[in-house]
Amino acid sequence: MIVLGIETSCDETAAAIVTDKRDILSNIVLRQLEEHAVYGGVVPEIAARTHLEHLDRLIRAAVQDSKISLKEIDAIAATCGPGLIGGVLVGMMTAKAMASALNIPFLAINHLEAHALTPRLTDDIEFPYLILLVSGGHTQILVAEDVGTYRRWGTTLDDAAGECFDKSAKLMGLPYPGGPEIEKLAAKVKDKAAALERFPLPRPMQHHKSCDFSFSGLKSAVRTHVETLPTGALTENDIAPLCASLQEAIAETLISRCERAILRFKETYGAQNKNPALVVVGGVSANKAIRKSLDALCREQGLHLSAAPLELCTDNAAMIAWAGIERLKKGLTDPLDFKARPRWPLDPDAEPRHGAGVKA
Ligand code: KG4
Ligand code: ZN
Repeated sequence: MIVLGIETSCDETAAAIVTDKRDILSNIVLRQLEEHAVYGGVVPEIAARTHLEHLDRLIRAAVQDSKISLKEIDAIAATCGPGLIGGVLVGMMTAKAMASALNIPFLAINHLEAHALTPRLTDDIEFPYLILLVSGGHTQILVAEDVGTYRRWGTTLDDAAGECFDKSAKLMGLPYPGGPEIEKLAAKVKDKAAALERFPLPRPMQHHKSCDFSFSGLKSAVRTHVETLPTGALTENDIAPLCASLQEAIAETLISRCERAILRFKETYGAQNKNPALVVVGGVSANKAIRKSLDALCREQGLHLSAAPLELCTDNAAMIAWAGIERLKKGLTDPLDFKARPRWPLDPDAEPRHGAGVKA
């Protein structure tokens, strides 16, 4: 089984070809960093136009790289949500047109499900498993019970973890995306204890008994610290310790929620799964300090930690093609009048959370 995947939901234009034997035959990603850098974030209209400009060329290159012909492809999968709707439409319509011209099935992929299923492409992970989804748009704890069946146990009430990295970086005058910049500067700090003491930051919702997150207070606390620094261009001596303190605060917040979720997972699914796993997915999972803390937690709790290779953590089309394969194997194809979904929760039955701009 061979599937072509297309990803255009944010600022990556991507095409990939993957087989049901878990071979990634090609995986091409164009990151639109320069187009958005001057604005300090992704501009939806620019993203959509850039997808339109490059997608057909990238698909052609993905087919060429894979050394297979279009005729050998069994289905076309594209992200149909959640995401920036202009970009989603570009990828979805291209996929529908190709599926129709080649007379093969079209697969409408939920971008979050694609992140959630990536560990099954790279690792032998069996259902049910626990997921920490940490990206620029989402921070959630979920259980994957099966393809298409997820339980959301926790979500952010305001900003996502990646958003907290990005917005804090902007406050410090660092370029977008902020996560990798903050990680680089934090790694330069030799005396972490001194950095935490100089720039103390809160651990949001520590005393709540849920698996929910909140990151906007952390970002505001970063702003307060930045305001105490001398005006003008900030020096690395000032910013690096603040980055170290922020990374630590985000890591600790994620760990405390995961610990709670692991206990609940063991109670709920303990008997069903002899090799329980925590899977960390989404762009923020590229952060090595966060991976290290999660690794320590999983060792302590006797869980396998699965974190995809870095190029499969951030947005890519191999994960879209793989989600397509998982769905195709179950006979789940989609009609050509499928409507793109700007919002598309993985667990539609999850209790709504009341907070400003909930990223559910
Ligand atoms: O999953 P992703 O590529 O896009 C979506 O949001 O769907 O995630 C992008 C997010 C950005 O907020 C970026 O700052 C963050 O992932 N990120 C990181 C790192 N690399 C990317 N955050 C922390 N450390 C990193 N190394
Ligand atoms: Zn993503």
